[in-house]
Amino acid sequence: MNDLAGKHFVLGLTGGIACYKAAELCRALIKEGATVQVVMTEAAERFITPVTMQALSGRPVYGSHDASGFDGREANGMPHINLSREADAILIAPCSADFMAKLLHGRADELLSLLCLARPIARVPLLLAPAMNREMWAHPATQRNMAQLAADSTTILGVGSGFQACGETGDGRMLEPPQLLQDVVAFFQPKLLAGKRVLITAGPTFEAMDPIRGITNHSSGKMGFAIARAAQEAGAVVTLVAGPVHLETPRGVERIDVKSARQMLEATLRHAPLSDVFVATAAVADWRPAAESEQKIKKDGTGQAPTVAFTENPDILLTVAQSERAQSGALFCVGFAAETNDLAAHAKAKRERKGIPLLVGNIGQLTFGLDDNQLLLVDKDGARELPRASKLVLARQLIAEIAQRTGATA
Ligand code: C5P
Repeated sequence: MNDLAGKHFVLGLTGGIACYKAAELCRALIKEGATVQVVMTEAAERFITPVTMQALSGRPVYGSHDASGFDGREANGMPHINLSREADAILIAPCSADFMAKLLHGRADELLSLLCLARPIARVPLLLAPAMNREMWAHPATQRNMAQLAADSTTILGVGSGFQACGETGDGRMLEPPQLLQDVVAFFQPKLLAGKRVLITAGPTFEAMDPIRGITNHSSGKMGFAIARAAQEAGAVVTLVAGPVHLETPRGVERIDVKSARQMLEATLRHAPLSDVFVATAAVADWRPAAESEQKIKKDGTGQAPTVAFTENPDILLTVAQSERAQSGALFCVGFAAETNDLAAHAKAKRERKGIPLLVGNIGQLTFGLDDNQLLLVDKDGARELPRASKLVLARQLIAEIAQRTGATA
């Protein structure tokens, strides 16, 4: 992916052990297509050398002594002006408690805080990835400073929780580079569903026969998880009801893990009344064993296999689509159809059967487990193809489509 192609960042490092993670973050930004100008405070230079950051960014690093008037590299001697105007965003990672306090007061006694103050505030966003000991993080002064910085048009990317270099455990760790990258990419996505509540089902279901066995299918959940990520990037509040899959939860998404279709139905019905959009990507098992044995079904030595009777599972999408909220148009329902052949005809028929405004068709063998896919959008007026692309790219296109159809486009 090249989600940051053409974007130029000032990556600022301040004093903290998390500086070692900034090296990986720099690489990640560049791999995603960005260019990066590193600026380090004097304290940051004690944790990681400018040589490392220069090698990774491919540009000489600006350090604490390169402040206005002291820098021979810039024709006008004003790196704080030049660097802050070239950037599409300034990202401070790690951002120390001290540096936040400095930003809050508009202090400018070295290059990094100087260029933050000099940035054109309406055009160049400032993003902070705080990193500090848990007591420092929880301190009222830090919390107060952050609230004020947010009010001053600064975006605070949050912190992680866990074991800290100081030996304590709690909140305040810098987010990991892949998490920061996801947040930065999300920051630049258009907020097409700002404030909307989106409910998504994803993955297979598992229908137990006994405590050991059951039936399921090959759905990987990747398409549904990509849609959850795209919706979150678009500013929606996202709830993801996930069957058994081995996927990381997209940043900022509330995930509810379920196993069976009935559990998925229950979780979905709990959230549907609060939602504006419902996207059913889950490959729900059509049938479940009629009876679930409490104990393992044993071979009895007769050579006779047990007979398993099946019963039909509830249709989650149909149930939601028939609810008053969906019927009144307050809840926009989107279904998926995985077919092996005659996609257009099957998808059209399925949309009508489910009574939903939009159905997305895909070919099972061309999507299950893969990172890319191709989609067919079917509505009452006809069908439109979204050509083969990564599931995340397709998910963003689908979210834009949903935003347009629900009139939510910001
Ligand atoms: O009914 P069918 O499986 O052909 O339709 C697929 C669509 O219906 C998908 O959106 C799927 O998530 C949803 N579905 C459901 N509950 C079921 C079966 C399918 O929500 N029991």
